[in-house]
Amino acid sequence: MSLLKSDFNSVTLENALKWGVLHSTPDSYDFTEADSMMADAKGAGMRVRGHTLLWPGTEPSWVNDTVTTCTEARSVLKSHIETVVTRYAQTIEQWDVANEIYDKDGRLKTNSPFTRLCGENLIIDAFRWAAAAAPKARLYLNDDRLTSVNAAVQAYSALIDKLHSARVPIHGIGLQTHLKVEDGAPDSLPSVMALFREKSIDVEITELDVRLSESDDEREDLKRQAAIYESVAKSCVEASNCTGITVWGFTDKYSWLSASSVEGGPTIRDANFVPKLAYDALREGLCSNSCTTSQSTTSSGSHA
Ligand code: G3I
Repeated sequence: MSLLKSDFNSVTLENALKWGVLHSTPDSYDFTEADSMMADAKGAGMRVRGHTLLWPGTEPSWVNDTVTTCTEARSVLKSHIETVVTRYAQTIEQWDVANEIYDKDGRLKTNSPFTRLCGENLIIDAFRWAAAAAPKARLYLNDDRLTSVNAAVQAYSALIDKLHSARVPIHGIGLQTHLKVEDGAPDSLPSVMALFREKSIDVEITELDVRLSESDDEREDLKRQAAIYESVAKSCVEASNCTGITVWGFTDKYSWLSASSVEGGPTIRDANFVPKLAYDALREGLCSNSCTTSQSTTSSGSHA
């Protein structure tokens, strides 16, 4: 925690607030892990991002087994949101209400009974229920496909219009920003941020990491990785509607990518917690406005 505290002022619970951890059986909730992490984060004076209330395709099996009508889907989701959001109404400042709901063609995913049975109306209701349970929370959409102006961005943009028309609160959209060195810096990020600014919507970099390539030149790879971290931070600092940056893991030792044995090394500290080039580059990017901004560097912290 002391390392986290020295580098970060906000934390996202990587998995502890997901359905599979909190609500793995129909009639009970297990808040043990979330409560403990929340207490640590608040004890350290950190902002907490809540992740996530609805992520199609990741529901526990009981949801798929028992929810067969839209009426049931609404009842189950409403109850989950009210229970979880109310519990943390004073501690969670930002919620990812809906995560990764569209496919790459901008179609609502149907791999969840919630979206399959009720369509987009349920997403709108999810925001409505979250706002009622925690009126002060900032409510976000969140997705991993938002680094260029594409079909998913257009779909989210249209959904935001619908939320506005329905007078349902929506404050921001999280750009997860899981990147790869081989793809280079996401040059379209400023355009994406500007598009949402036009709609008076905040953006936040919510899950930044940068996978190394399979190049033999590790030093060069780390330099390219660092440049991408700097570029993303700079884009955020320069966008008036970008509210913060969260890195998805702060050491290669505990990255979700290391855990799943995909290519490793995506974070700002190596497996021995030693800062990498990316660490300094991220700081540099955050200071591209002479360090006068209020942007927060943040970290997913389930491994703290
Ligand atoms: O904790 C259990 C452990 O008890 C068990 O032995 C082990 C066996 O598989 O699983 C462990 O749980 C795993 C958990 O990570 C903690 O390591 C889950 O299986 C695994 O599915 C889970 O993966 C998480 C993944 O989301 C799915 O929820 C990753 O940690 C997490 O980094 C990743 O984060 C997502 C964001 O929520 C949304 N955006 C994409 C991002 C990366 O996929």
